[in-house]
Amino acid sequence: MRLDGKVALITGAGSGIGAASARYMANIGAAVTLAGIPAQGVEEVAAEIAAGGSRTLAVPTDVTVESDVRAAVERTVEVFGRLDVIVANAGIQRHNTDVNLFEMDEEEWERTQDVNLRGVFRTCKHGLAQMIRQGGGGSVVIVSSITALNGRTPNVSYMTAKSALLGLNRHIAVHYAKHGIRSNAVCPGALERTPDWDDHPDPDGRRETMESAIPLGRLGTPEDIAPWIAFLASDDAGYATGGHYVVDGGMTIA
Ligand SMILES: NC(=O)c1ccc[n+]([C@@H]2O[C@H](COP(=O)([O-])OP(=O)(O)OC[C@H]3O[C@@H](n4cnc5c(N)ncnc54)[C@H](O)[C@@H]3O)[C@@H](O)[C@H]2O)c1
Repeated sequence: MRLDGKVALITGAGSGIGAASARYMANIGAAVTLAGIPAQGVEEVAAEIAAGGSRTLAVPTDVTVESDVRAAVERTVEVFGRLDVIVANAGIQRHNTDVNLFEMDEEEWERTQDVNLRGVFRTCKHGLAQMIRQGGGGSVVIVSSITALNGRTPNVSYMTAKSALLGLNRHIAVHYAKHGIRSNAVCPGALERTPDWDDHPDPDGRRETMESAIPLGRLGTPEDIAPWIAFLASDDAGYATGGHYVVDGGMTIA
């Protein structure tokens, strides 16, 4: 599996799955734009990738700001000449406050939607526009979650956004196939750290509960997810579109 000559833009690339995917994709030949906030995160990961000899670019990007997302795509094309792969990965999870639907105010609900759903909309919108302009197809990989597949998490806006992403994925797969563009989603299971980990009310309890529910017996890592993202981005996955791929140590089916 190689990504030689491909240019990928990855959101939320300053840590976790985004950073691991950027490293993995750069290692197999891609030029990678790391888009995300905070700036320091994407800059540090890009510096590390550049030190390894790969072509990379850090663009501080808040996916809730449309002009930021547009600029990240424009900068990628300025520097690398094209865009072949979009990894829409940036996400937040407000463990303590995205709970109790019956008393939630709209602002709380919207905060998660703005990053996790509309952020992916903005990323796909500007990425697809570039792919169509340049011609030659492309690949979209959306990072959803196994929370899209069951109702267990108390984080209601989070799981609703992650579920909606599977619809967006199917839409892109069906309506952009004529441009040679594929779209797939990855549904990671419970990883060692979640987004906004510092807010987690009970990390030890979570580990115990999750590990006993995961047939493979351990929490996942960003490095468990990155190869799936790279594969779906690659031409080796050329007949796969519209699917979602569960990578969760068996948690969902247990
Ligand atoms: N960790 C898990 O258990 C888990 C499980 C399933 C799905 N996911 C999903 O994987 C994706 C990556 O999460 P992660 O586990 O690597 O956690 P993470 O917190 O390390 O990664 C999320 C990244 O997105 C960035 N980000 C947040 N708001 C942003 C914004 N407005 N604009 C741009 N970037 C922003 C964060 O700074 C961070 O770098 C998320 O979409 C998350 O929902 C994670």
